[in-house]
Amino acid sequence: MGVYTFVILFFFIICIKSEEQLNSGSISNGHCVDDIRALRQELGALREKVFLQETEILRQKGEITQLRQEVVRKPKQSVPPQSVPIQGGSQQTDQTSSIESFSQLHKWSNTKRLLMNSANISSSSTSASPKIAFYANRIKENHNLAVHQALIFSNDLTNVGNCYHHSTGTFIPNISGVYVFDVTILLCSPGHELRTDLVVEGNVMAGHYTGDSTNCSNGGGMAVLHINAGDSVWVRVQTSDGTNGIAWESSFSGFLLYAD
Ligand SMILES: *[C@@H]1O[C@H](CO)[C@@H](O)[C@H](O)[C@H]1NC(C)=O
Ligand SMILES: *[C@@H]1O[C@H](CO)[C@@H](O)[C@H](O)[C@H]1NC(C)=O
Repeated sequence: MGVYTFVILFFFIICIKSEEQLNSGSISNGHCVDDIRALRQELGALREKVFLQETEILRQKGEITQLRQEVVRKPKQSVPPQSVPIQGGSQQTDQTSSIESFSQLHKWSNTKRLLMNSANISSSSTSASPKIAFYANRIKENHNLAVHQALIFSNDLTNVGNCYHHSTGTFIPNISGVYVFDVTILLCSPGHELRTDLVVEGNVMAGHYTGDSTNCSNGGGMAVLHINAGDSVWVRVQTSDGTNGIAWESSFSGFLLYAD
């Protein structure tokens, strides 16, 4: 604000000076008239800028009032640092104090958020919440698959809780809860297609399509499912046109979102 005021004053003085000179007839040069016109335009632009900033300040003032009201409504929470009252004072100091108290409030809410986050982290790391997660790629038999053949992702890179079995491609959790699964299929058989299913105890829960490409194509998807402890989850072929080659990048993964 201070800088803009200064700039405006500067241009204003130049303007008056130039106009005085122009009026007194000391300048009759066309260039100077153009300069004055340009300066007037700039002054107009700066006025516009100041107006926009004032509008922004008023908007922020409104936000501060709202925040204050929210703080008052929750008396049990810690109170933000003592802020300068909005009412009273000249226009200039009022605006400055509003900005200060706004940034104070901002700082305060950030600090509070950090405190809340660290509290959450410490509580989750100390509590014994079950951990189950797996990720496997490299299908053992990746060519000419038959209908209902299981896709055996043999390379388990992650297997927290040891619920994924890489020799059969089945995931059998020992905890009931909501799980998130992802199946990604990369098919490199130009002109061919492959449909796969995610099954739980033999029931189809999600279907995926991969194919219809001139070269490789990607398919698969995510599923969020409730799984009972002891249930088997795996990926199998739904329909196949015979000659399909599934690339090693294809993967099957999942994790426990929350236990029952
Ligand atoms: C599930 O299996 C894991 C890993 O073997 C084990 O640590 C955990 O205690 C089991 N949980 C239940 C509820 O059986
Ligand atoms: C098709 O994909 C394979 C496997 O990524 C690649 O080796 C081959 O160069 C690709 N062919 C064409 C024509 O893009």
